[in-house]
Amino acid sequence: MIERRTSPVIAAPMAGGISTPELVAAVGGAGGFGFLAAGYLAEEALAGQIRRVRELTGEPFGVNLFVPGPRADLDLGDYRERVAAEAERYGVRAGSGHWDDDLYQAKVELVIAERVPVVSLTFGCPEKSTVDRLRAAGAQVICTVTTPAEARRAAAARVDLLCVQGAEAGGHRAVFDDDADSAAGGELFGLLGALRVISGAVDLPLIGAGGIVSGADVAAVLSAGAVAAQLGTAFLVSDEAGTAPAQRAEFASATRGTAITRAFSGRPARGLVNRFMAEHGPHAPAAYPQLHHLTKPVRGAASSAGDPEAMSLWAGQTYAQATPLPAAELVRALDEQAKNALDAARARWS
Ligand SMILES: Cc1cc2nc3c(=O)[nH]c(=O)nc-3n(C[C@H](O)[C@H](O)[C@H](O)COP(=O)(O)O)c2cc1C
Repeated sequence: MIERRTSPVIAAPMAGGISTPELVAAVGGAGGFGFLAAGYLAEEALAGQIRRVRELTGEPFGVNLFVPGPRADLDLGDYRERVAAEAERYGVRAGSGHWDDDLYQAKVELVIAERVPVVSLTFGCPEKSTVDRLRAAGAQVICTVTTPAEARRAAAARVDLLCVQGAEAGGHRAVFDDDADSAAGGELFGLLGALRVISGAVDLPLIGAGGIVSGADVAAVLSAGAVAAQLGTAFLVSDEAGTAPAQRAEFASATRGTAITRAFSGRPARGLVNRFMAEHGPHAPAAYPQLHHLTKPVRGAASSAGDPEAMSLWAGQTYAQATPLPAAELVRALDEQAKNALDAARARWS
């Protein structure tokens, strides 16, 4: 299904209100493929978004779910005080810092009942029994991986495709088990390297993700053997995305670098470097989703105030090249650029 669209361009799921039904429908309407992001949503809200996509388009679409980690009552130590001071600064109270499973099982039941055509999972390997149930309901199942070891685990769970996330990627790293001894949560493979080593490890179709902002990048991952290219940051600035104005302004000025941090959520993620990341990142424990809940009021208050210094400004390494366009136009431009890039590459042999 996903690999038989007229365009190989996939708009990545982007949780936190960015992947709107309008974005998903616009990408699907242009021949690409769009994902709703179920992360952080209650199941009623997700059901509403699924309904809305179906009102807007008859094209297939996907839903992305966060696989929960093991229940843990972690001591967040000094980090609570750090965030409490930030909360005071922004005139709010810090969040509770609790563990939860993001209502995973309820959302699995919902996508099964709704017969969502494609279901992708990140942050862990789904149980084989869950994959079996999703597939029995007609869904194509995708798991995001960052290393050959994760790819083997996902293949053993019998998923249909893998989304291979390179280190360039914006937003959370998809690592299954966050290795607290590593700043990035695990070994960092760039996208081309990841596609190479993972294609050597498993025999599954691969989608490439991480740092893809132009059609030439789409051509590069297809040349490397991927069946499609998944772009997050590129669609973050599209007209239909629910991106906060302060983040759009940061993308337009493009003065910041990116880094991987646990500062905002307790799980490694790539975003624009700002004050909160610089001051707290080195002290942040590997505690997802506890830190996500703890920092949420601070991030919300900063966003409402239009202050980029305490927002999580997720962005891939190539964000400065992202062009604000209506999403359908972006899909068409990427398609044309990709074909031109492939022609230009081929011409080097003539
Ligand atoms: C703002 C933002 C939110 C994201 N949210 C999700 C998500 O909810 N689920 C998911 O699987 N990936 C998420 N990602 C990661 C993307 O799926 C993808 O791996 C990444 O965007 C690729 O790198 P790029 O941003 O350089 O294109 C997010 C990325 C960004 C930038």
